[in-house]
Amino acid sequence: MRFAPVLGLMATLLATPAVADPARLDARSAVAAKAPRAHAITWDKYSLKVDGQRVFSWGGEFHPFRVPSPDLWRDILQKMKASGYNTVAVYFDWGYHSPKQGVYDFSGVRDMDRMLTMAQEEGLYVITRAGPYVNAELTRGGFPGWLVNQQARARTDAPEYLQAADEWLSRINAVVARHQLTTGQGTVIAHQIENELDVVGPAQQRYMRWLADKARADGITVPIFHNDKGRNGYWVPKGSNVPGTVEGPTDLYAFDGYPGGNCKVDSTPSSPGVAPDWGIYGPGGAKGGASASPNTPGFLAEFGGGWFDYWGSNGDYDCTAIHRGVGYQRVFYATNIANGITLQSFYMTYGGTSWGWLPAPVVFTSYDYGSAIDEARGLRDKARVMKQMGEFVAAVPDLTRMDKGEAVVPSNDKVRVYHNVNTETGSHLYVVVHNPSSATGDETFTFTVKTRDGQYVVPSRIKGQDSKMLMASYDLGGQRLVYSTSEIQTHLKWNDGDLALLYGRTGEAGETVLRYASPPKVEVIEGDVQSAFDAARGDLKLTYAHKGLARVRITGGGRSPLTLLLADAETGQTFWRRDDVLVRGPGLVRGEAAKGGVLSLTGDTETDSPLEVFAPKAVTAIRWNGAKVATKPTASGSLLAERPLPGPAAITLPDLAKLDWKTAPGSPEADPKFDDSAWMRTEGRRGGSTVRGPTGQPTLDMSAYGFHNGDVWYRGRYHGRADIDTLTLHYGGGGAGMLQVWLDGRFLGQHELDGGLPRPITTGVATFKLPEDLRGTGEHVLSVMVRDNGHNWDLDADDFHKEARGLVSASLSGPGTYSFAAPIAWKIQGNKGGEDIQDPVRGDANNGGQYGEREGWHLPGFPDAAWAKADMADTKPYAGTTWYRASFDLALSKDQDTTLGLSIGDPALPRSPNKRYRVLIFVNGWNMGQFIANVGPQRTFVLPSGIVDPHGKNTLALAVTSDGAPGDALEAVKLVNLRTVRGGIPVARVPAPDFKP
Ligand code: GAL
Repeated sequence: MRFAPVLGLMATLLATPAVADPARLDARSAVAAKAPRAHAITWDKYSLKVDGQRVFSWGGEFHPFRVPSPDLWRDILQKMKASGYNTVAVYFDWGYHSPKQGVYDFSGVRDMDRMLTMAQEEGLYVITRAGPYVNAELTRGGFPGWLVNQQARARTDAPEYLQAADEWLSRINAVVARHQLTTGQGTVIAHQIENELDVVGPAQQRYMRWLADKARADGITVPIFHNDKGRNGYWVPKGSNVPGTVEGPTDLYAFDGYPGGNCKVDSTPSSPGVAPDWGIYGPGGAKGGASASPNTPGFLAEFGGGWFDYWGSNGDYDCTAIHRGVGYQRVFYATNIANGITLQSFYMTYGGTSWGWLPAPVVFTSYDYGSAIDEARGLRDKARVMKQMGEFVAAVPDLTRMDKGEAVVPSNDKVRVYHNVNTETGSHLYVVVHNPSSATGDETFTFTVKTRDGQYVVPSRIKGQDSKMLMASYDLGGQRLVYSTSEIQTHLKWNDGDLALLYGRTGEAGETVLRYASPPKVEVIEGDVQSAFDAARGDLKLTYAHKGLARVRITGGGRSPLTLLLADAETGQTFWRRDDVLVRGPGLVRGEAAKGGVLSLTGDTETDSPLEVFAPKAVTAIRWNGAKVATKPTASGSLLAERPLPGPAAITLPDLAKLDWKTAPGSPEADPKFDDSAWMRTEGRRGGSTVRGPTGQPTLDMSAYGFHNGDVWYRGRYHGRADIDTLTLHYGGGGAGMLQVWLDGRFLGQHELDGGLPRPITTGVATFKLPEDLRGTGEHVLSVMVRDNGHNWDLDADDFHKEARGLVSASLSGPGTYSFAAPIAWKIQGNKGGEDIQDPVRGDANNGGQYGEREGWHLPGFPDAAWAKADMADTKPYAGTTWYRASFDLALSKDQDTTLGLSIGDPALPRSPNKRYRVLIFVNGWNMGQFIANVGPQRTFVLPSGIVDPHGKNTLALAVTSDGAPGDALEAVKLVNLRTVRGGIPVARVPAPDFKP
């Protein structure tokens, strides 16, 4: 049996043949047999409509490529759904799928069909954002490595570029086309064809036309849009007719924005910013926001859900989670709602990990983003507030068609009240914020609510960074809410009447007025609630303070019964709305299914938690994660578990210091006798780089030789001369990239690039004095290792992503030999195989050209028996790279979900300024990030389940690159429990090959 769906449409969306979660099987199988039903997507200036029914798309951005463990995609999607989101927005990363022109991979961790199917199964709409360019703090902004070798300017209609883009789009569009709402085969509701293209000349106009035509030719039938960088009025649909806009081949106009400021340089939150009016209260015109396109709904394709963090910061994600925290969400997102913006997507909602060589120079490994769901997959307080806002948006369909109401002047000019009306339903929305909305004082005030139900002077209060979204003259199910100073979290049809959950700030007074034909019976089941009936108006007025949970049952009065739950905000956050049930208590409710009077719930507990279920009467028994829960009925008609659900049991983790560690030196290329006969000779190749060496020198840019990620080695031979005493190397290394140099086997030193904001330094010139005893005539051998920490993005559509990586040029000079470029015969070696990557399962982003990587030292099963035993308590600094390997077994409880982290050194310090070393962290062969001791700020690296096996054997391999100076050696490495809950979902170990000789 399935209970009457509250949202008929979402129930239809769930009608999918593929069911992965057995707990949901029963509910779904009834509809699974039905043929897919196509849905019509239309829109007007207010909202999108699906089959004529208005939809408020409340979305969050999530990048499957930042979670290389597909089972965890479902975990994140379930957490989004549970946290009140109804839409997930996804970028696709072209480069993630294409190591070489013509070669594409959509399997394993790259299986985007699987991701879209999961989103459908979890009942989420999807906004697909296919590039070709996405930005997203990805290396090359998502372009594949091989694209940087094109002469043609990217993001124009240059044939060479279009041909490349065509390859990608033919494939990704086909994936998207298989999952559209419009064909009934999925939940994709809108599709983005380019990102922030703010060069709008004829070449871009033709390019945009081509992208739209291509999407249509590839079977994409959902509305198409572009994401405008800020508010330029670029690529608005035809017929917008707003002076100053640029029309494009789009159906919808979308834009992004990250207002509100950021954390200060000392990593404390700066004062709150003013929430902008980018919709019906805005300045209007092309640059006003939604006003650029008056015939389409207000659409924020990205609105700040946090912010990224950069190399060398103090580690700002915790600060961001506060600065762009609960108060920010309430003020900024509510202001968007007041502005009638009915498509909002918060970037990021789960940030994840820029593992391997995914990061652009502007970011380090963690892409936590300070977002609602943290990198360790835990719900921040932000997620719980998102749940309250999202459930409100879902419960109150009136929000999808709002016009400005009569101006409301509150009694206190330090307060602003937005007043909107839905002229079809007659309901009113009052959004209360400070005036200006950046203020944080404690203001009490009154304002007048004037609706078809009459005129009322309503008291309210706003304190700290906060807003309130209050409804009046609202048909709450079978009830008429005249007004309430409490916010609606959710309401649902419940048995023969309605169940509503309202909330307010702890300790604040609240009043709720309901309309009846005759005096109703009011029963206060719990809490302190006063009621009075005004017979003249038919108003029942409830007065109370928001404190814990009060429960009231109102019957008679000519209406169906109402059970009213009045909570303080935090108590409200302990509730979870699941279709037609309301659950209180656990840390997460993932799913529900009912069969023969038994309601089976799945979810997580973070501590011992109560469980209370407001389910239809037919439900008489409850199961939690498969186990029977003894319950008793309560006076409010719910079922309450007799004992709390248990929280997680403590876990113990192996002490990594005690493992049997092995070590081996990893830079044999430095040795003059090293055999580089199989390496490529550099030559006069023409790359695409925007930075080139002097004419006459060979091309050194690593990309020109098909090496696109991570480390690259050069070995150069030249004939010395006594007067040559200086080596100058121009190189590209990305943010916090570096270079190390040896001459005839002797370490000359290293050079590091600055990773800081506003733009990291991505190229540098390093100068080395040649030791006197190595200046003689005869052949000398230079060995140079360049670490490429990512290619630039192409944010300004100026081919910035093509800036060279690896060496750009090299010269040898002396006092009398100004800029003398002694001919150096260079050979180059990057990742093994170049574009013919050797490990297609882990993929292009996993490996660069370290010797150990080329030899498989990072992989499980590599025979390290002959390696030396490592003393981890007394590691030594060696110039170049030194490898450490160890294995450990884990047998964590299968009833629990633990996110493990690996930490290096003292987690309390963002960096060790005097320790010049860096580490590539390989877990079971996967490159899970880079630690740079002297740069920071990241010391703890999330190891996603599935990459680390919580129930089996794991192999760690650390590639430590140091300058060899005293103290510059690996610090203590620890395995840490970042988060453990009881619950979780099954996560398989991601299949990937072990070492093969
Ligand atoms: C936007 C861009 C995204 C991402 C974001 C900042 O402008 O569209 O791709 O880069 O900024 O995180």
